[in-house]
Amino acid sequence: MNVNGRHYRTIWIKEDDESVIRIIDQRRLPHEFTIEDLVTVDDMATAIKDMHVRGAGLIGAAAGYGMYLAALEAAGKSSFDDHLYAAAEKLMSTRPTAVNLSWAVKRQLEAVTKGDSPADKVAIAMRTANEIADEDADFCRRIGEHGVRLIEEIAAGKNGRPVNILTHCNAGWLAFVDYGSATSPIYAAFDRGIDVHVWVDETRPRNQGASLTAWELGQHGVPHTVIPDNAGGHLMQHGLVDIVIVGTDRTTYTGDVANKTGTYLKALAAKDNNVPFYVALPSSTFDWEIRDGVREIPIEERGPDEVVYIEGLCDGEIKRVLLTPAGSRAANYAFDVTPARLVTGLITERGICAANEEAILGLYPEHRG
Ligand code: MRU
Repeated sequence: MNVNGRHYRTIWIKEDDESVIRIIDQRRLPHEFTIEDLVTVDDMATAIKDMHVRGAGLIGAAAGYGMYLAALEAAGKSSFDDHLYAAAEKLMSTRPTAVNLSWAVKRQLEAVTKGDSPADKVAIAMRTANEIADEDADFCRRIGEHGVRLIEEIAAGKNGRPVNILTHCNAGWLAFVDYGSATSPIYAAFDRGIDVHVWVDETRPRNQGASLTAWELGQHGVPHTVIPDNAGGHLMQHGLVDIVIVGTDRTTYTGDVANKTGTYLKALAAKDNNVPFYVALPSSTFDWEIRDGVREIPIEERGPDEVVYIEGLCDGEIKRVLLTPAGSRAANYAFDVTPARLVTGLITERGICAANEEAILGLYPEHRG
């Protein structure tokens, strides 16, 4: 993905110093493009918890590189594995909903503990972190190749008018290592010359849509319009949305989808208006153990400041202002669960399937039983 014409990933090992991980600090976007250096596992835990990096796939890749930083630290400790397990606990406690986090940490633990010397373990941790990141980018690219067919089919019936796609939150390349999940079919369609237009939900309270999705679509030249979160129902009633495509932070093997809060309401509106509602995800976002998403997926509750304050550019500076009466309480449920019955289909790196156990396990038979 390009920023001002230069290709970036969202996370990488510093070119001239393998002990440093570099990230795009997403707290500064869209107003400042800043690269941050992380050198300890504590730095990485803070970056995940305080959302310097965020989004399902990128949280997984960050956890992978966090375990590599932990391995570098562990090489100087009396017990390598004790330090590694403590780091794993620390990273896994940062954010509860995105399942990619624990998936990446467990993959690292399984690989690294097989090494027979500290140097061997560090090498394995680096290789595994890079594999997790490369796989994320490759799977997202393949999601685009499968999902673009849906947009092509709609375009064929529109007589040259743009295909209107609604998305919620940021499931773009900033939420992954590259390409994005929900945005990958959109970029693929745009690159094939299909006329697309994206309705971007602003996504209160952190405004990932207004600040991140709008920014990255703009960097790629994709026409888009930012809308208040509650406008989607009106647009759907008036035929102004052809398809909804969102991402997910955890999807059960039965097809229930946890995503940024407000997604469920979009799915209800889509159902009521016969608008197809698709969820795009790499297989690292499936939870193969949970059957009932509404009851079993842990929903992250974040601090009230994200609700009562809003941040933006003012007189050339990023400032935070209070929105609510000083004494009002605020609640901040960061995700909600859309039941499988409201989901038209899942777009994965292996293809598109219905949101039900049979279809999902049909694509991923290795997870049967
Ligand atoms: O809280 P965030 O910004 O980490 O939320 C994650 C998301 O970006 C969204 O829920 C997204 O739609 C799914 S992650 C690709």
